[in-house]
Amino acid sequence: MRVLITGHKGQLGRALHARWPSAVGVDLPEVDITEAGAIDAIVAEHHPDLIMHCAAMTDVDGAARDPQAAYRANGLGTQNVALAAARAGAALAYVSTNEVFDGTKGAPYVEFDTPNPLNPYAASKRAGEWFAANLTRQFYILRTSWLTGRGGRNFVHRIQQLADERGQLSVVTDEVASPTFVEDLADAIVQVVSTGRYGIYHLTNAGYCSRYDYARQILELSGRGHVPVQPITLADYPRPSTPPKFSPLANFAAAALGITLRPWQAALAEFLKG
Ligand SMILES: NC(=O)c1ccc[n+]([C@@H]2O[C@H](COP(=O)([O-])OP(=O)(O)OC[C@H]3O[C@@H](n4cnc5c(N)ncnc54)[C@H](OP(=O)(O)O)[C@@H]3O)[C@@H](O)[C@H]2O)c1
Repeated sequence: MRVLITGHKGQLGRALHARWPSAVGVDLPEVDITEAGAIDAIVAEHHPDLIMHCAAMTDVDGAARDPQAAYRANGLGTQNVALAAARAGAALAYVSTNEVFDGTKGAPYVEFDTPNPLNPYAASKRAGEWFAANLTRQFYILRTSWLTGRGGRNFVHRIQQLADERGQLSVVTDEVASPTFVEDLADAIVQVVSTGRYGIYHLTNAGYCSRYDYARQILELSGRGHVPVQPITLADYPRPSTPPKFSPLANFAAAALGITLRPWQAALAEFLKG
């Protein structure tokens, strides 16, 4: 299978490229998905069977400060990628987010629940889902949450860094989702996109926790268990974006194909062992 990966320098893109070494990878600054001609040219040159679309503006607070930038990259950029996939007859796998849900369900979200994005990042990713589903016939929408990959911009590295710099932390107790590790996610994605069963999939490590509990586990497992963590709420922590409060994703569709991910605690422990 000929694969084209957008955003191949990102956390997930790198993990996927390692699994498809012969894939063609594109990313900024060489290829900007907001330029339709650039993505068209790459697709015309390489004739992929699958476009694995990981590129995105992933700075959630940055998206709240500059929603148009988020809509350009995550919405219109995905429109460009989807149109290129449709023209080439390639399947499209689009990576989306738990944040498309508003967090009010009170239970983990299955693939059949109705999105209701609360913030510009989420709305822009939801726009990307619309383009994937409406401009191509062979698409996978792969929703995930709280991604961590080695060296990436993520909560695990940030908590360790802040603990070392400040010696104490304040972390919210009322934002709950599923930590997910890109090596496990990449394995699951490779399996899902080999099935030809197009549709929506929720792929996260199993289980869920609050940011507070997650931070505590990160500190315990990285030799920083002595660092005090003050529990706070989202109301105490003003930020540009409004995250959904309870947005774990339930893996219903992939589990029906026998594709599951291990509990997040086991993945975190392995990640921190290095
Ligand atoms: N990170 C999470 O917690 C999380 C959670 C749920 C879903 N997701 C989704 O999962 C996917 C992968 O996330 P990730 O954490 O691996 O992201 P990441 O590490 O931020 O990687 C995204 C890559 O896309 C590139 N990119 C941004 N705008 C682009 C453009 N206009 N044209 C081409 N490339 C562009 C970025 O380049 P620069 O670094 O130069 O901007 C970066 O290399 C994204 O679709 C994201 O929305 C992420």
